[in-house]
Parts: sequence; structure tokens; C-alpha cells
Amino acid sequence: MTQRKLVIAIDGPAASGKSTTAKLVAARLGYLHIDTGAMYRAITLKVLRSGLQGFYSKRIVELVSNTSIELQPVNGSLKILLDGEDVSESIRSPEVTTAVSSVSSIRQVRQVLVNEQRRIGKQGGVVLEGRDIGTVVFPDADLKIFMIASIEARAVRRQRELRQNGIETNLETLKGEIRQRDEKDSTRDESPLKKADDAIELDTSDMTIEQQVEFVVRKAQERLKATGS
Ligand code: DC
Repeated sequence: MTQRKLVIAIDGPAASGKSTTAKLVAARLGYLHIDTGAMYRAITLKVLRSGLQGFYSKRIVELVSNTSIELQPVNGSLKILLDGEDVSESIRSPEVTTAVSSVSSIRQVRQVLVNEQRRIGKQGGVVLEGRDIGTVVFPDADLKIFMIASIEARAVRRQRELRQNGIETNLETLKGEIRQRDEKDSTRDESPLKKADDAIELDTSDMTIEQQVEFVVRKAQERLKATGS
């Protein structure tokens, strides 16, 4: 009998530990890792490069409809291709990080990307991470995790991540940025960041990456067992 493959949704605010956890859980289960934030970042990069003024321009819809975004697993990481170009690094720039909340709040942008995420995930065997996976993209996901962490823990993580890339930042500045992004992501009209009623909340403030991964993998195994797969 072939084993059933789950759809696993991991949602939560910026720097809550979603990406690393999703990547490692996917590797442990032999599933695909879909970083939906990277998809919104790639579109944002294209919008910024196009020089479009005012993010609500009609041309954005056209632009999004004529864009290809691919996520390719390479050596345990995800390579992000925007119209064939590797943009894995440029989508993490401060300019993209600042603009992504505005671009991702445009309904038509979300429609196109949500359809694409459903297409990639519908066969199962996927770990999708984002803000609206358990509420909008896959409301029937087999397992939903909502990750949270204190502002302090998240700022420290971001600082460490940036330091690895040779960028020094002030902790208070980072906390301010994270608060601002939380506010924007949670209060927007389109698919705001929200815990699904049936999601398991996981506070990662005092957890190691290994503990987070173990928690999600165990839950996935329980779900598979419960359905006799
Ligand atoms: O996870 P991240 O920080 O790379 O996400 C970048 C932005 O994209 C984030 O500010 C909110 C948005 N986003 C979204 O609106 N919906 C998703 N499913 C994933 C990300």
C-alpha cells in the first residue's frame, strides 16, 4: 500500500521559526517545501523593478498574470526562480522586505498566487508555510500549525540571521520592524494573518529548531496513523 501524503500548513508571523521548521520537516518526511512568503517576495521584486508607482495600479494585475515563479529544492535549500532568473538572494533585500506587505495585500496578486499554491499542493506531500495556508489556501489541510514567538525571541533570531549575511543591526530597530509587519499582516482586509480554529498553536520562544521539527513530525505521524496510512 502506498502511504497517503499529507498537506501540512505552517502559518505564523515573521521570524516565528516557520521557514527553518518547514524546510526540515519537509526533508524528514520526504515532502516538498513551499515557502509562500518567497512567492510574494518574488512578485514584489518584479513590481519594484518595473518601477510601477502606486501599488494598486491595474498594471500590477497584468504583471502578475505574466510572471512565472518556481521553487526548486537544491541541496536542502529552496532556489527561487522569477521568470527563470535565480532571485533567492535579492528577494531578501530590505527594499523587498519593506514593500512586500503592501504588494501582498492586493487581492488580485493573492488570487494568482493562491491558485498556484493550490495547484502545487493538491496531491499532498507538501509543507506549505505562510500566513493564510490553514485559513484560505488549504482550509482542509491534514495538519495545521500556528507558530508564534515573543517579539524579543524573533528579533534575536532575525539579528542572528542578518549577522550570518554580514549585516549588523540594532535589536530595538528590528523589534520595531517586526511589530510594524505584524500590524500590517494582521489588520489587512485580504486574508489577514489569523490562527485557524483547528490549528495547533506552537510557541517557539524557548524551543530549539530540533524540538520544533520533532513536534511537527510527531503530529504528522499521528495524523497518518489515525487515518490508517
Ligand atoms: O514569510 P516572509 O516574511 O518571507 O513573508 C513575506 C511577506 O509576504 C509577509 O510580510 C506577508 C506576506 N505573505 C502573505 O501575505 N501570505 C503568505 N501566505 C505568505 C507571506
